[in-house]
Amino acid sequence: MAKQNVVKIIKPCSRLEGTLALPGDKSISHRAVILNSLASGKAKIANFAPGKDCWSTVSCLRALGVEVRREGPCNCPTVLISGTDNDGLKEPLNVLNAGNSGTTMRLLGGLLSSQPFLSIITGDASLRSRPMGRLIKPLRSMGAEIHGRGKDSFAPLVIKGKKLHGIEFSLPVPSAQIKSAILLAGLFAQGRTVLHQPLPSRDHTERLLKHMGAGLRITDNLLSLTPLTNPLTSISFCVPGDISSGAYFLVAGAIHPDARIIIKNCGINPTRTGIIDVLLAMGAELKIENERMEAGEPLADIVVESSELRGVDISGGIIPCLIDEIPALAVAGCAARGKTVIRGAAELRVKESDRIATVSRELSRLGAKIEPLPDGMIIHGGSPLLGAEVDTHFDHRLAMSLAIAGLIAKGRTTINHAQAVQVSYPAFWPDLQNLTS
Ligand code: S3P
Repeated sequence: MAKQNVVKIIKPCSRLEGTLALPGDKSISHRAVILNSLASGKAKIANFAPGKDCWSTVSCLRALGVEVRREGPCNCPTVLISGTDNDGLKEPLNVLNAGNSGTTMRLLGGLLSSQPFLSIITGDASLRSRPMGRLIKPLRSMGAEIHGRGKDSFAPLVIKGKKLHGIEFSLPVPSAQIKSAILLAGLFAQGRTVLHQPLPSRDHTERLLKHMGAGLRITDNLLSLTPLTNPLTSISFCVPGDISSGAYFLVAGAIHPDARIIIKNCGINPTRTGIIDVLLAMGAELKIENERMEAGEPLADIVVESSELRGVDISGGIIPCLIDEIPALAVAGCAARGKTVIRGAAELRVKESDRIATVSRELSRLGAKIEPLPDGMIIHGGSPLLGAEVDTHFDHRLAMSLAIAGLIAKGRTTINHAQAVQVSYPAFWPDLQNLTS
């Protein structure tokens, strides 16, 4: 069946101005609902991420017997979770569907490997083409019976859960999803699980586990987890705004010639703020105000204004801290003076689309000068963008990056398959409209 094509037209606007409340952080929301499902007691998670990805996690958990209720407005929902006290997950009656969400599949893959029943988890065409061998391999060395299609490389995954044993494992890629999957499996394993990270990746699982009473020790890039002897303690909190969704407005504010945008309650966990560091290095007029903490996660308000950007080199340890923001940073690179070089980001090839290929191809249609590399891209900034017809490849981050590129392109930019934003930021189009009118 042909997929629906929602088309959005973007035209340049003379002024970009306003205050924005971001959707709740997607990574934190997945973890909040999964960990509270295992805990004792009830939890209330406000500003839960409203996009389809986190609802995929919720619907899988419901199929596993967890009671999750939803209330409040669509764009800023609250979820109420009744914890199952460590051992209350039930064998699902049908195949679990993670939709487009890699985080749902990988985190639940780890958890389900440790539960005493059979489960099968699948996803949409994009997710079924993303690498799962990196998940299967360490879980198998914990004793898991987990199988995938294509020589154990791809979903659907079939999992015959059982009692696992802890492992000592060096993560081959700095993936927070794989790290978190192993930690979730390790909670119910026999013996300690020790992980070495090549580089720090987002640490929301670690922060939440500690807050909920798990025995987790962290020294530099080494994590050491003791299996649970008592259930986790449930935790209620308000999820900070998603910096990955804020990224489009940080870049839009910096590249637009007449802009001032205030982003309220934005998560500023240091494992996620690579975008801020890079924009500052590019010369962005950006201020962080009103810093505070919520459930072990830092957040703040961010003010961004029109800036004269210059090209920079982006590589090394910062890459995992901005991996999802590279499509937006590529747009910043187009508007900057000079060359922006992104290296060490081969992981972009296995995201919701091959983002090195799709970002280069679609921004080139707008007149950008971009050379794709095996592990990144070179952007020759400063050539004016011209409105054209582009496609999101059903990738939410590409959709929003093309939209902000359209704001500085001369003429009309037509974005095909604009519905992709539903995955992480359903209110993106109206929020953008509010800033331009
Ligand atoms: C995520 C981790 C990252 C990121 C993804 C969300 C998470 O993926 O790109 O959007 O919530 O753990 P990897 O773990 O594959 O690097």
